[in-house]
Formats: sequence, C-alpha cells, structure tokens
Amino acid sequence: MPVEFIGFITNNNASETIVRSGPVLDPPYIETVAKAHELAGFDRALLAFHSTTPDALQVAQHVLTITKTLKVMIAQRPGFTAPTLLARQLATLDQFYGGRVSLHVITGGNAIELRQDGNTLDDKDERYARTNEFLDVVKLEWTSEKPFNYSGKYYNVENGFSQVKPLQKGGIYTFVGGGSDAAIEVAGKHADTFALWGESYAQVRDVTTRVRAAAARCGRPTPRFSLSVRPILAETEEKAWKKADAILERATALQDQTGYRRPNHATDGAKRLLALADQGARIDKRLWTEVAKLTGANSNTTALVGTPEQVAEVFGDYYDLGVSHFLIRGFDPLVDAIDYGRALIPLTRNLIAARDEQRGIAAE
Ligand SMILES: Cc1cc2nc3c(=O)[nH]c(=O)nc-3n(C[C@H](O)[C@H](O)[C@H](O)COP(=O)(O)O)c2cc1C
Repeated sequence: MPVEFIGFITNNNASETIVRSGPVLDPPYIETVAKAHELAGFDRALLAFHSTTPDALQVAQHVLTITKTLKVMIAQRPGFTAPTLLARQLATLDQFYGGRVSLHVITGGNAIELRQDGNTLDDKDERYARTNEFLDVVKLEWTSEKPFNYSGKYYNVENGFSQVKPLQKGGIYTFVGGGSDAAIEVAGKHADTFALWGESYAQVRDVTTRVRAAAARCGRPTPRFSLSVRPILAETEEKAWKKADAILERATALQDQTGYRRPNHATDGAKRLLALADQGARIDKRLWTEVAKLTGANSNTTALVGTPEQVAEVFGDYYDLGVSHFLIRGFDPLVDAIDYGRALIPLTRNLIAARDEQRGIAAE
C-alpha cells in the first residue's frame, strides 16, 4: 500500500519555538507554505480547527486555488455546522478542485474551548455519539440518489438531498482523530483513515488492533492509519539530538510568548502521550517526548530524532504495524517542510516500495 505524507498548513508562521510576528491570518505565508509542501512532495496538508482561529474551510479553498495536486485535510467539529450543509460545502469544493478534498473529524477534547463556539454537550462520550450521527447524515447527503430521512438523538432530517455530489465516488475521504475509546468506535464505523498522534510501537499495535475489531463489528474493512510526529533531522545522530535539546530550551524560554504552556486539561490522546513521557524522554528507537511533556501534549508534540535515514527506518517500522500515512511538521514549519522533501520523504517512499516489492506486494 502506498505511503502518504501529510503536512500541516498554519495560518501564520508560528510554533513552539517561533513567536508569531505577522497577522493571525497571513495569506503570503499560507501561499508560500502551501506551495512549499506541494514542491516538497507532500500528498496532502492538514488545516486545523479551533474555536478562535480563522475558518479552516476557507483557508483550505485558498490553498486549493494556489496549488495543483496537493490535497487538503480539513479539520471539522460536529455540532456547529449542520451535517447536511457541511456535506454540500465539501462536495462543492471537491467538484471545483478535482477531488482533492478530505475531511478530518475531530470531536473536541476541551469543553471550555468548545463553549467558545456555543457547544453545550460537555460530556465527551455524548459528543462522540453526536459525531457518529453527524457522519451518518454527511454520508447520506454525499451518496443518496433520492431524498432521505434520518431520525437520531442529535440530528433529524426530512427529505434530505444534495444535488451536488463529491467528485470522489462514494464520498469524500474521511479521517477520524481522537484518543478516547469512543473515537475507536466512530473510526470503526466511519473512518477511511484513523489518525493517531506520535505514539509508541506498543500503543500503535494496541490501537490498530482495537480499530480493526471495531470495523469488523460494522462489517467494514480495516481503516488505514495515520501517525503524526515531528521529525528533528541532522546529518549525524549526535547533531540531531543536539538540535532537539536546543528546540526544548527555546520552547521552554518562549512559553509565555508562544502560549504553548501545559494546560490544566488533557484529552485522552494527550494522556496517552503523557504516559509515554512518564516512561522517559526517549521511547523505542528515537521517539522523543520532551516537548509533549512541556506543552501537555494536546497536539502533535512527540518527535523522531536522527538522520533522515534513521527516521525513514522508523517510518518503516510503523508501516509494518499498519501505518501508511505520516503527518509530519517541524518546529520551523516552512523551512522543515522543504527539508523533509529533500531526503526524508523520498528515502521513506523508496524504503517502503523496496519492502513491498520484497514481500511481493504490488504497488497500487
Ligand atoms: C491528526 C490529528 C489532528 C487533530 N486536529 C485537531 C484540531 O485541528 N483541532 C482540535 O481541536 N483537535 C484536533 N485533534 C484532537 C483530537 O481530535 C482530540 O483529541 C479529540 O477531539 C478529542 O479528544 P480525545 O483524544 O479525548 O478523544 C487532532 C487529533 C489528531 C490525531
């Protein structure tokens, strides 16, 4: 199965080690980083969703307008836009931009932040139950050739119908993220790809096994898996670890300015990474947990440290565990995206293609 690289397009140039200096919505930066991802050989790029940031859907449309092949992975939270409307919004985009749209469904782990958008479902399991119904309706809107009715606890639709269908047959490619048990059930029923943060080999083995079982309970094939991680690369391993230490020192020093302080809440996804950090700063071959520990791990915060060859080898290990999508971003997002295109991405593609050939797995 082909390996896919997913990047991350932020609305401005900022990270745990870069204090934002430009506007919150910085079109020249967005255009530059989007084109850099396309030129570096990324297949897709994530647009995140938060209750106070620019609208991911519109930023995604702008990215699609200024790129040719790069796909977008648009994060959306159920509970704010009617599922029938979001389905038509995404189908319309997919028609305009040659089937380059994908949806990333996030249920939201922080009730206080969700209330900033007017959410009233503070119970997360209830939010996942809403997500399940939300995706039922979205998929009906994408696929039903005649008006449909849907009666649920959170959504009721009468004679729902979309004249515009996605260009992608069967609906728009859908990612689901989340560390909760409830996320596994939603993924089993709805995900084309289940998205994980940068977990250990043992944690990935555990999650893939549970998602596979959840999909089987729904009579579905096993979804694919995406792993998010922050590669820290240098021409020698020693230099890479020195670079990691410098990143930690700078991230610690800038916390008040960047806002990447450890919050008093943790999503289940974050708790899984913090459990790793409790085991140590370095897990498996080169999974580094120090920035996750510093920031509370409520996003893609674990890193793989080493030479491009060493990190590509670890991607091979995750591939053997069933991971086929790697969502990567650096601490210097634009510069690192370009750098990943020089060695890490081509090395990993070649390593995995060679491994598939060895196993007689035909390249799709
Ligand atoms: C690849 C990936 C991307 C994510 N993007 C976002 C995002 O843009 N906004 C957000 O609020 N949560 C995002 N999340 C967070 C989870 O979806 C979050 O953990 C979930 O909404 C609820 O938490 P849980 O881990 O407790 O189940 C992302 C998670 C993953 C794995």
